[in-house]
Formats: sequence, structure tokens, C-alpha cells
Amino acid sequence: MAIVINEKQNIFTLQTQSSTYQMEVDSKGVLLHTYYGKHVHPESLAHLIYQSDVGFSGNPPEANGDRSYSLDCLPQEIPSSGVGDYREDMVRLTHADGSTAADFRFVSYEILNHACPLPGMPAVYATKEEPGETLIVTMRETASQVMVKLIYGVFEKQNVITRSVRIENHGKTPVVLEKALSCSLDFQFGKYDMIYFAGRHAMERTMERTPVGRAKLSIGSLRGTSSHQYNPAVVLCRPETTEESGDCYGMCLVYSGNFEMSAQKDQRGQTRAVMGIHPDWFRFTLEPGDTFDTPQVILSFSPNGLSQLSHQYHDIIREHICRGKYQHTPRPVLINNWEATYFDFNKEKILHIAQQAAQLGIEMLVLDDGWFGKRDDDNSGLGDWFVNEAKMGGSLRQLGEELHQLGMKFGLWFEPEMISEDSDLYRAHPDWAIQIPGREPTRARNQLVLDMSRKEIREYLLERLTDILSHAPIDYVKWDMNRSICDIYSHSLPTERNGELYHRYVLGVYELQENLLARFPNLLLEGCSGGGGRFDAGMLYYSPQIWCSDNTDAINRLSIQYGTSFFYPISAVGAHVSAVPNHQTGRSVPFSTRGHVAMSGSFGYELDLNKVSEEEKEMVKEQVSTFKKFYGLTHEGDYYRLTCPGEEEYMAWEFVSKDRSHAMMTLVKTDGQGNSLPVHVPVRGLDDTRKYRCSYNGLVCFGDVWNNGGLTLKTIPGEYASLIVEWVEEG
Ligand code: GLA
Repeated sequence: MAIVINEKQNIFTLQTQSSTYQMEVDSKGVLLHTYYGKHVHPESLAHLIYQSDVGFSGNPPEANGDRSYSLDCLPQEIPSSGVGDYREDMVRLTHADGSTAADFRFVSYEILNHACPLPGMPAVYATKEEPGETLIVTMRETASQVMVKLIYGVFEKQNVITRSVRIENHGKTPVVLEKALSCSLDFQFGKYDMIYFAGRHAMERTMERTPVGRAKLSIGSLRGTSSHQYNPAVVLCRPETTEESGDCYGMCLVYSGNFEMSAQKDQRGQTRAVMGIHPDWFRFTLEPGDTFDTPQVILSFSPNGLSQLSHQYHDIIREHICRGKYQHTPRPVLINNWEATYFDFNKEKILHIAQQAAQLGIEMLVLDDGWFGKRDDDNSGLGDWFVNEAKMGGSLRQLGEELHQLGMKFGLWFEPEMISEDSDLYRAHPDWAIQIPGREPTRARNQLVLDMSRKEIREYLLERLTDILSHAPIDYVKWDMNRSICDIYSHSLPTERNGELYHRYVLGVYELQENLLARFPNLLLEGCSGGGGRFDAGMLYYSPQIWCSDNTDAINRLSIQYGTSFFYPISAVGAHVSAVPNHQTGRSVPFSTRGHVAMSGSFGYELDLNKVSEEEKEMVKEQVSTFKKFYGLTHEGDYYRLTCPGEEEYMAWEFVSKDRSHAMMTLVKTDGQGNSLPVHVPVRGLDDTRKYRCSYNGLVCFGDVWNNGGLTLKTIPGEYASLIVEWVEEG
């Protein structure tokens, strides 16, 4: 049993293979958080809690004059709100009388022998091999009829604890949820760094590491999507934690909309970290009988540094978030026409690209933006999901069949959530766009956003997508979303309920993708939002790969893919070889290096094959076969970051197969100096007791020799040169 209960003392211990998470109900009914860390015996750890009379930290009624008992100081699973805990709260309510206090006491618990799905939202799911277990702790709000269920999923093998919260209004009057976070984690002792992933369009998820102090560290998004600017996944670790050693905790939100994560030390040096839907611009009314579910947070702990933490996240996302045919089926190597043609294409051009690509071993043609409605630039046509047969020289069925005859799959771009003002859809339904009556809307990429909370809009989109997908042999859809959301107002919600729109929008997107996949279960979805503006575990439930960034510069991609790798498996990372000089940065990087970087992802090309030399075409063939050779390693193996961006003159990373018989390292030179020093690269993850032959120098050594000695390379000539080194078990 992964959930160990001490009935007498109401101690709940959640055990995974290498971690323990514990909570205990105290004599006042408060659910204390007593421990999260390395695996220990399931004995009470409540003795770690230090209570003392702290000035200006008040005492709840049950303290009966005990001034050392204060909610302001105790580590809790669900902090109270407005009744004397002045730190971050998790659930904030406005009651019918206008008061805003919320205080929670234990009622009961229940255990399920499987993971619990969340209604209408993605969540870590049960499998035959690992069904998971669930602990549901019911808490009562002391002065109202609101009940809160704290839901804990335990995935023993994966070292994962999931958390979400269900809030139920059992009263006779409405209650307004002002804040409904998914998780609060209290750390009584120790210093922590917060590692988070910040950026911008075309430069997403660059890693930053900052000590947590008394000033609140807070990241989040109010853009309606998880955003390019901050990713909803954060590590808290000891200052001394490295890739290979030290305690670290991950918090990864399975959600694709507005979010907030913050960490702060309190007056006594205790750290509280919270995560969930951003409370700003959120206000959700619970009528009597209504229930609200928060999204799920995936928690994971590693006592052995960041690499192990990443392996745990990669495994849980690959095995228990990603679904469908392509969860493990090799993804087709694709060629996308976007950077080759932009909007300027016709059937002939597309087929010409496809014919050349097919000869080189590329397996799928993805037709990007511009095939529908009136769409020759990005100012019009969104919403009109009807094939522009004049531009396409016929139907998509004809094109699809011709591609299939070439032995290629056919992929198609959509941006379902958007509407152009210059579109038939907008002319027919101007109120379908999110905008505030009487206020000129904010345009971004000259487009508006459809109100995905509305059923009739989702129905229109499902009908359009179904029509296109059932009239042509389409194997893949790139689902794009190309602006941030603002001007919040919905024609379908009562005025006082507009604070629900951001969340209802996300639920609407989830529902539409779920319905589409139910109709087309073999479809491969690739998520996209101007590259990686919605790269999160929520979207990965529907699309097992996401276009990682609109930036295809192989050198910039090193830090983008590095940051992405902390939580998300390499199989999720859409990565393409594009032309040089690069369209985003103007930089020229050798063809081989562009290939090596893109191969550490879901691989493809995005360039005009007419402009590629014969020599490079031969390299495409080689790259496709190298990618396939290493597919098992890159898409199913363990990933090791061997360097940090900017620290060395090169970046290197490694994949090791789960059975430890095979490994592959990629190294890219990022800088060069005169009189250069040897390049010494660490090697990780081989079995100490088995022997491996290294492709670089042909030497056969025990794994411990490679793991501890590393590999010394000769000077690597050439700007931005790269190489792949392989270790194969001998005998
Ligand atoms: C976004 C995507 C690109 C491309 C364009 C098309 O920017 O990230 O890959 O599909 O839209 O308009």
C-alpha cells in the first residue's frame, strides 16, 4: 500500500519508492503537513513542528488560551484564509454576508485503489502497470456549508504525488470563490532556490535560479494561456543541489491557462510554495449544490539531484499524461512548409516539396497556415475553415491522396480558437469574439479570440474540423493559438460572472480537443502557440508533441530545449531543421548541427528543399536514419543534461536506454577560443558493472570508468560544429 493510515492518530503517509509525504490531523482538526522528502518509515513526524508564542500571530478559538498555537506558524495542507494565517492562502471565499474568512477542519477520509480523473480536465491517469492510489481528505469550512476535498494521487513507482482540490457548496446561498489554488507546500526548515523557466515569444523557457527569501518570488500568466513568459512548472531545491546530487521538489501544473506559483519565507524562515489558477481576474460563483475542481499539480521529489527529478517527470508525462496511438508509436519525420513558403504556395509547390522530401526518407508533409478561407497573409480568414480550392488547385482529398501515393502522411494546420474580423464567420457572428461591448478590442496579429466557453462555438468548430478531416486523408493536425487573451467579457455569462471566463475558456479548449480525438482516435495532434506559448502538461494530454518554439536557430534552441527538458520529455519537443541564415536570428549553423539539435526532439524539417544542395540532401537521408536509429533512446530513454547554457564552450546532453545497454551523447560547440583547451565531457547513467564500447575512441571500459572519468575530446574544428558519441554494451 502506498497510502499508510494511522487511524488512531489520523496520520496519513503517502509512500513512493523514494519519497514520503505525510500529514496529520491535530487535536484541533487542523490538517498539518509534517513531512515531504526522502523515503522514511511511516511514523509520525509531527514532533518536528516547533511551537512557541509568536507575537502578533493570533490563536484560533480551539487553542483555548494556548498562545503557542497559531495557524500563522503551523505547516498546513490547506492554509486558512483571513483568520490569522497571514501567509499565502489557497482557497478564498466570499460568503453571502460579504465576509471572506475560510477556515478548514478535518471531517473524514477515503481511499481509492486507483488514480482519480478530473471532470473536464487533464490529469495523470491510471494504467494497468501503475493504477495509482488516491487519498481524499474532506475538510469542512468552519462557519459555512462549504466542504473542501483534498485529493492526493500516489504513483509509487514514478515517485509522484498529485494534488487537486474539490470545493463543494452544500449551503443554501451562493458562495464566491475568489481564489482556488491546487496546492500549498510548507517547508519548515532549510534554504531553497526556486528554478523557473522564463522567456518570450521565440525565446521560451530559459532557466533561472533564484534563492527564496522573505520577498515573495512569484511567477505566472494572465494571458489566458500558460504563456511563453513563464512556464507552469517549477523546482524548489537546496542551494547545493546539482544535476547529480541534492534534494529537489518539482511542482508541475496540469493546466493551460492563467496560473500563479509563488514561494516565500515567512517571519520564522519557513517556506510556503503555492500553485494553481491565478487568483487575479478569477471569480467563480458556486450556487448551492455546485462543485469546483482545481487543476492538478504533479509533485515529485528527488534526493539525487535534478536529473533524477527530470526522469521522474518525463516518465509520468510519457506514461500517464500522453495518450493515444502516438504515445509510443514512432512519430513520423515531417516537413513543414511554413518557413519554406509562408503564405505563398499552391498545390504544385507543396507537391514538389513532398516529392523531394519523400525521396529523402521524410514521412509526412505538414501544410501550414494559408490553405483555407481568404488567407494570403495573417490579416484575414481565421474562422473560415473551408478549403480554398482555387489556391489549393483542388480538394484536400486530392492532395492527401497524392501525398499518400508518395508514401507520405498528410498533416494540416488549424488555429481553431481564433477569428479574423475580415472573415465570413465574424461577419455572421461578431459576438462570438471575446470583446467588451462599447470598447474597441485589443488586436494581436490582427486577430481576435473566439469565446471557447460557448457551446455553439465549440460545436461550430467541431463540425468544421470534422468536415475537413473526414473528407481528406489527414493523419496529423497542428493546433495553433497565436495571441494572448484580454478584453474579458462573455455574452453567455451573467455580468457578475465574467471572472469565470478565463477558466471556462480553457475547459472549452479541452472539451473540443477531447471530442475531436474521440472522433479521430488515430490523429496525431501537435500543439502550438506561436511555438511554445502553451507548452504544458495540460496540452500534452491531448497532443503528445508541441512545437517547442518559433525560433529554429539551432544555437538558441540549445537553451530553449535545455529549459524545456527539466519537466517535459524529449518526445514532446517539436524540433525542425530550418534554413540558414536562420529566419529568426540571421545566424548560420552547419547543416549537421541543425540536424543533431532537432533530433533531440520530435524531428522534422522546415525549409525549401529547392535551396538545399545535393550534399545536404544526402545529409537529410543520413539524419533521418540516425534519428530512427536513436529513436528508442531519445523518445523512451533517460535524459541527462551534461552542461548549462553559457558555462562551457559547448553544450552537451545524453540519452541512456532504460535497460542501460545503450547511450548516446550530443555535443555542440557554442564558442571557440585560440590555443583551445581540451573538451572534457561528463558521462552519466551507464551501469557501473557493465562494459561499454565508446564510438569516439573505440575503447571498451566498465560503466563506472565512463561515469566517473568522463570523456576527453580533441579540439573540435569549425564554428558551431557538433558530434554524436555512442556507447554500446559489449558482450
Ligand atoms: C505560428 C506558428 C508557426 C506557424 C505560424 C502560421 O507562429 O508557431 O509555426 O504555424 O503560426 O501562421
